[in-house]
Amino acid sequence: MAYIDWDDKFSVDVEGMDNQHKKLFRIANRLHEIIETKDYGDKLSEAFDALINYVKEHFHDEEQLMAEWGFPELESQRKAHKAFAKQLSASFSEFKSGQTKALQDLLDYLEVWLINHILLSDKKYGEFIATKGSVDRIASPK
Ligand SMILES: [Fe+2]
Repeated sequence: MAYIDWDDKFSVDVEGMDNQHKKLFRIANRLHEIIETKDYGDKLSEAFDALINYVKEHFHDEEQLMAEWGFPELESQRKAHKAFAKQLSASFSEFKSGQTKALQDLLDYLEVWLINHILLSDKKYGEFIATKGSVDRIASPK
């Protein structure tokens, strides 16, 4: 079973963002799979780098979308995004300095954060955008 399964309840009603969230879930699942095999070599570092790089790319696109639409919670989203990326990197550094348990903490944090952030915070920009214009005006980044 996948570690995080996509479900329509995660939809923020912005197709481009849903696609990016789906991709994030796939990358998180891949990282989880590698951790499960206890293969702590290059593959793990590559999977972590893929996650952190895509997280940053996604946050950039999401913040740009929020800015374009004048979403009032942009600043708090920015702070939350930054703290999340920092925490992921900190956990991975702890793991690299010899604390294997840090990987489980990373996975737990990643899962809970992604789910809560999408359901509680990201859905709000979707609702906000929907009140502002017709769906065809919604920017749909890759
Ligand atoms: Fe997001």
